[in-house]
Amino acid sequence: MISIRRARPADAPAIGEIHAAVWRSAYAGILPDAYLAGLSASRLAGFYQRAILDRREGHAVFVAVAGGADAPIQGLGGSTVVGFASGGRARRPGLADGEVETLYLLEDWRDRGAGRRLMRAMGAHLRAVGCRSAMLWVLRDNPTQWFYRRLGAREVAREGIRVGGQAVEQAAYVWDPIESLLAATAPAGER
Ligand SMILES: CC(C)(COP(=O)(O)OP(=O)(O)OC[C@H]1O[C@@H](n2cnc3c(N)ncnc32)[C@H](O)[C@@H]1OP(=O)(O)O)[C@@H](O)C(=O)NCCC(=O)NCCS
Repeated sequence: MISIRRARPADAPAIGEIHAAVWRSAYAGILPDAYLAGLSASRLAGFYQRAILDRREGHAVFVAVAGGADAPIQGLGGSTVVGFASGGRARRPGLADGEVETLYLLEDWRDRGAGRRLMRAMGAHLRAVGCRSAMLWVLRDNPTQWFYRRLGAREVAREGIRVGGQAVEQAAYVWDPIESLLAATAPAGER
């Protein structure tokens, strides 16, 4: 069983590992190998620990946790973080009030609805802190753009940026009003 909850500081090391692992697989061939190899899970953990504790600007981090019969390591009675999402008020004005800054799931835990549930948690949170619309940036070479379209987002802008010294293009996807994100991520029987 996968559950979604607000992240705690103790989740930061797992979140750092997931960020590094997912970037290395999702951005292989898109971002430079040396840059991906140099990603440090422990440095990322420090970044996320601060993000979990810093609730300014409506910031929040949510985790997807596998437990019970689905726990990756059986017999320990524990649960394991298998994905996360983070965001807050948009980092720059103009496109939407709120922004989903990250959304990453370990490969073995995809296609089970956890991505949609993490997006719902982010959407509900952003609306609760007063955001009337939401957006996210995604690299144009990232095949997960279908996922955001599936959840009702509209591509509204494109721009060139540099990541790890490499020129890449990113696209902005927007849900306006934010209720369109909540409707697309409602539990199956309510959509
Ligand atoms: C993007 C990501 C978070 C999606 O999460 P997920 O848990 O796999 O997706 P869900 O199971 O919630 O699927 C939601 C919808 O997307 C669709 N979908 C999921 N996997 C799909 C696939 N492989 N092909 C086509 N559609 C798919 C499903 O149809 C589902 O819609 P439906 O229930 O109406 O059929 C996850 O794949 C991921 O972490 N990818 C790598 C990291 C990444 O690139 N993140 C984005 C950075 S901006």
